[in-house]
Amino acid sequence: MTEDEQKQAAAAKAVDYIEEGMVIGLGTGSTAAKMVDLVGARVKAGLKITGVPTSEATANQARNLGIPVVGLDEVEEIDLTIDGTDEVDPEGRLIKGGGGAHLREKIVASLSKKMIVIAEAKKRVAKLGAFKLPVEVIRFAAPALKSRLDALGCTAALRLTKDGTPFVTDEGNYIYDCDFKVIKDPEGIALTLSTLPGVVEHGLFIGYPDIVIIGTDSGVDVTEY
Ligand code: A5P
Repeated sequence: MTEDEQKQAAAAKAVDYIEEGMVIGLGTGSTAAKMVDLVGARVKAGLKITGVPTSEATANQARNLGIPVVGLDEVEEIDLTIDGTDEVDPEGRLIKGGGGAHLREKIVASLSKKMIVIAEAKKRVAKLGAFKLPVEVIRFAAPALKSRLDALGCTAALRLTKDGTPFVTDEGNYIYDCDFKVIKDPEGIALTLSTLPGVVEHGLFIGYPDIVIIGTDSGVDVTEY
């Protein structure tokens, strides 16, 4: 299967877990977008669910497909969140935020009874860190934070758009992409990042997925945590 087919297969398997009446956290990224398309098709066929999007991009996609979307002012709890990932290790720890949406993604995941992560095979890694860890920071703090982030053993680079200006998240913040090569102690780095003033949220998701569905050449691998 091509990578695109692997993403599609993982998305299709995840959508099987959706039941009538559920509140569904809708992830962000190219794999999550395939899942949202599939949810849209089921809604068109009569399924009644409510979506909580994790980005403006996903909210627009969902609305265009006729999926009812609400914010956190309208729901207390989310039954199931389905989202992609940039890396997943054997313990189900993730790096997310390649698309810059990890702040809202983590909030939605944290409010969810269940999280399913979907990805193509290449996202499975023995150790996290080859993918640069996204760290969302408030703009005021950004100049001061590069050296603080570098001191954690990475090279931090401000994420830029194609025209060379800083990438701005849905919440109006900047992102540093932190090149660790290998993150030897994900829990320790996650804790340290969470205590740095000016850091809004980092892309390490530890203890979040209940199920990881990986599309492979031969089908889908489903791992429960
Ligand atoms: C968005 O900020 C990310 O967390 C995505 O979920 C992640 O980057 C996976 O994206 P793809 O499915 O496009 O690889």
